[in-house]
Parts: sequence; C-alpha cells; structure tokens
Amino acid sequence: MLFQALSTSPIDGEPTVSTQQFDLRPTAHPTEERIRAEILANPGFGRYFTDHMVHVRWTHNDGWHSAMVRPYGPLTLDPAASVLHYAQEIFEGVKAYRHADGSVWTFRPERNAARFQASARRLALPELDSDTFIASLKALVSQDVDWVPTPASEAEESSLYLRPFMIASEKFLGVKPAKQVDYYVIASPAAAYFKGGVKPVSIWLSSHYNRAARGGTGSAKCGGNYAASLAAQKEAEAHGCDQVAFLDAVENQWVEELGGMNLFFVFRDGRIVTPALTGTILEGVTRDSVLQLAADDGLQPEERAISIDEWREGVRSGEISEVFACGTAAVITPVGELISEDDRLVCAEGSGGEVGKSLRKQLLDIQYGRAEDRHGWLTRLA
Ligand code: COI
Repeated sequence: MLFQALSTSPIDGEPTVSTQQFDLRPTAHPTEERIRAEILANPGFGRYFTDHMVHVRWTHNDGWHSAMVRPYGPLTLDPAASVLHYAQEIFEGVKAYRHADGSVWTFRPERNAARFQASARRLALPELDSDTFIASLKALVSQDVDWVPTPASEAEESSLYLRPFMIASEKFLGVKPAKQVDYYVIASPAAAYFKGGVKPVSIWLSSHYNRAARGGTGSAKCGGNYAASLAAQKEAEAHGCDQVAFLDAVENQWVEELGGMNLFFVFRDGRIVTPALTGTILEGVTRDSVLQLAADDGLQPEERAISIDEWREGVRSGEISEVFACGTAAVITPVGELISEDDRLVCAEGSGGEVGKSLRKQLLDIQYGRAEDRHGWLTRLA
C-alpha cells in the first residue's frame, strides 16, 4: 500500500485520526442531524452529497500519494487543467447498502475497480490498484456512515451512491497524458434513479447519433461518452421519452445500450439476450450479475448481436416477452415503449414483466442482505 498515516488538530480540514491508509481531516461543519434526516427521507438521485470526500493525488514523479478523507467542497483547479480542455476523465458508480443489522455493504467492488483500471488505460490515466480503490470506499463510508439510508421496506431502494472519479489536473494545454492526476470519491444518498420509482420507461431510438465506434472509448466509463449522449438524450426528452437507445455506428442496426444502462431482452422460450461486449458497450456490473442470476434460474443467457429489427419483430410477434434496462443506478428497470421517428412499439404495460421483476428482487435481496450471498458478491464497508 502506498499511503502513510498522519495525525492531529481539529480545525476544518486539518488532519486528525488516521484510518488504515487515508488521513482523516473531518469537517468542522457537519450537516445538522435534522437536515440530514430530511434529505434521507427524500434524497432523489444525485442531488445531495455527504460531508466528506476522498482525495488522492498522482504525479508522474511520485505516483499515488497524499490519500485523505477531507471535507466535501469545491475543487481548486487551474483553468488550464487538461481535464477541462481534453476531457481526460473517468468515473465509476458503486452503491453502499445498509442491512437490517445496521452494517453497510457494497456489491462486487472488485469489478468496478477492474473496470476503473481498464478505463484508465484507455484514457491514458494512471491505474489505481484494486485494494486502494476498495479502501477508498471504506474510508469514505466509515466517515459518513450516518448518510447511508435505512430502507423503510423491501420495496424501498435507498442506498448511498458512491462516485469515484479521476481527472487530469496538470496545468498544460499540450495534448498529452497529464503528469498530475487527482482521484476523488464523493457520496450521494439515493432513491430510485427514475422519478416515480420502478415503472416502465420509454426509450427514444436515436437515428442521428451513435454513442461509440470500434476503437473508440465506448467500453470505458469516461465522461466524454456521457457528454456525447446528451444531445440524443435531449432529443429523447423532446419526444417525451425517459432515455435514449443507441445503435452501432457502422451499420446502424445493432442494438448497443442506453445513455447509461445496458439492455436485456427476455424471450418466451427462456432465452435472455444482451448485446455482446464488442468494445463499444460498457461492461456493466449489473449486466454481468443478471447473466449469472438468469443462468441460476435456468434461463439461457446469450451475449450476442441483436438487431433493431429483431427487437421490433420479437415484441410484435410476442417472441420477446420483456425488455429491461440495467445498471448500478437503475438496478433493473422495465422498458415500456420504444419510440422512433416512424414507429411506436409497446414493450410492457403496468409494472413490467415477471422475469425482470424476479431478477430485480433477487439482486436487491442479495445487495440488502435479505438473501444468501451465494456468489460472494458483497464486501463490508462499515
Ligand atoms: C451507474 O449506473 O452507476 C452509472 O454510472 C450510470 C449513470 C447514468 C448514473
């Protein structure tokens, strides 16, 4: 491990107690309990943030150093910092779940750590080792543990959403990998990603935009991919849709993913199909878990190319009985409609299909400690 402990003095942001690796610099102005309780009662998604954040710096000469948990607050960045000009940035999405006994756990963080490393390689950023990545989640959640919501019932899907990210902070306008990089983790109490909870979402099929091309950054979790999806997302919203679906950039016929979620198609004969990872699709942790849970249930998971025509014809003929989206933030969300310039396809009514509902329940039951963690997916954070 790379970091050294440090101690002392209780001024805002000054070092006090050390954790295993992260110097703790607690805020002198924690959120009042009453205000925190109000936020936790209705957190929405990504609107409120906890009292602290993790920060670790990397420099070309010294590697990773100065790891700390410090008060949450604005960053000081030079206006010439390369992230602001060339988008050298990556991020992750991870959730912390409170179990009935009060303990706090996270789900398959080693997969997020591995993906973060793969994203770093693609964006020419330094890799952060998996132990430090997981320790950073533990350090922040231990400090802000009171911000992890306690779900009021099994139907409530509240958690603390953790957002690790890495930015190129070197002051330099030449186009080259930065020699100074900062890693942060911030945390945000979260309810369901979509307003209105779990109900089928409507999808706009983008015909003007593609998300990714082979050799590009489609399989990396980098801000640029999401920035590039926003014009299409705006188009989706202008058509009254919740999300946008992208097709491949070469033939414009193979289904890839939504703006921030993977897609699954449930066939009446027991097959469950998701687009294969061809380098243009994000390797979702929820996607991988759904493939495993579906196989456990005796379904036949298939990772393969699926065309927009197969989607449309399959739903129209009844061969495809359900379509759902999945991701850390969205968990499993049924797709209700697919809308495009010249077509409207109803994929689900009511609260979605039985297979998606069952997989969603199984996943949440494992995450919240209500079912046996038979695949060893959970890691305790606090
Ligand atoms: C996640 O599911 O964690 C993501 O990063 C997707 C984002 C659109 C919220």
